[in-house]
Amino acid sequence: MGRSADGLRTLRRVIDLRSDTVTKPTKKMRAAMAAADVGDDVYGEDPTVTALEERVAELFGHQAALFTVTGSLANLLAIRSLVPVGTEVLCEAQAHIVRAELGAHAAVNGVTMRTWSDPSGRMDLDQIETLVAPDLGPFLVRTAAVSVENTHNFGGGTVQPIEGLRALRELATTYDLGIHLDGARLWNAAVATGTSLDQYGEVADVVTVALSKGLGAPMGSLLIGSSETIEAAREWRKRLGGGWRQAGVVAAAGLHALDHHIDRLADDHANARLLAEACGVDPVDVETNIVAVPCADAAAVVSAARDEDVLCSAVGPRTVRLVTHLDVPASDARRAAEVLSHLAPARPQS
Ligand SMILES: Cc1ncc(COP(=O)(O)O)c(C=O)c1O
Repeated sequence: MGRSADGLRTLRRVIDLRSDTVTKPTKKMRAAMAAADVGDDVYGEDPTVTALEERVAELFGHQAALFTVTGSLANLLAIRSLVPVGTEVLCEAQAHIVRAELGAHAAVNGVTMRTWSDPSGRMDLDQIETLVAPDLGPFLVRTAAVSVENTHNFGGGTVQPIEGLRALRELATTYDLGIHLDGARLWNAAVATGTSLDQYGEVADVVTVALSKGLGAPMGSLLIGSSETIEAAREWRKRLGGGWRQAGVVAAAGLHALDHHIDRLADDHANARLLAEACGVDPVDVETNIVAVPCADAAAVVSAARDEDVLCSAVGPRTVRLVTHLDVPASDARRAAEVLSHLAPARPQS
């Protein structure tokens, strides 16, 4: 519900395009949560959590998976599994692990990061190969792993093509590096490209996926890898305070999302292209559910849109980000597109 110019309350729906994390569980998802069979997961006795972990591991062709409360925790455990204390991981300069996890990988894992840079967040094998630091003894930091984000959040929902990931796998084998795939939105990449989840699983030693973004669950991510990796990660999850008890209530939301909310991501992608067009961004550049809109004054656009009950975020002084999701039906996308098309500053700079 919004307010009209004279301050009176109106019945207009607020359209929230700030992130795909803002979704609320659907009625059917809540029913699945209420009906979940649960037990103490720290004792390994929650059948719904176990079912989710086994299903996700199988989807990606790996041996095991671990359910975590957040993607940040899953990423922390992923990097810990590949990068020993005092060594480094390479990633893109705008990657979530380097920008948005508040230094956890340094503070908790004791590792450093060096970055390559690409405006869309894509992998650049030449840059990566140049960065790789071999083991030269106790003088220089050794590179232990490469982390790739797919889709790339701050890059604007960019997909990493599977061919590039396969080439990275070869490079990693040459230099004896691990590969982490931060796949918080890997479901979107799979739907956008038709690449299967196990094809993505094949190129990485560890994969992290989120249930709480495009899939619409209220919380939860998974770390996927070998049985040995997951066993060690389970111990670290507990050490970090992430052991949870009757988590099957939440896992049930994830299982429901896997059954019902993957194919529909194509609708979010179509809605994102609609918004892009309205904002003067070439829809061809919008690969999934995130639109980065260049503008003169991002804060001003965000504020003007809010006055029209359309919420979006400034991810830089000159970039507004729009994210489509389960709670943005096509009718809302059309209204938001209409509103944003009138906000002239959202048009690209000449
Ligand atoms: C690419 C990526 N990885 C990891 C995360 C972390 O997820 P969470 O917010 O559940 O910690 C996010 C969150 O937006 C993300 O976009």
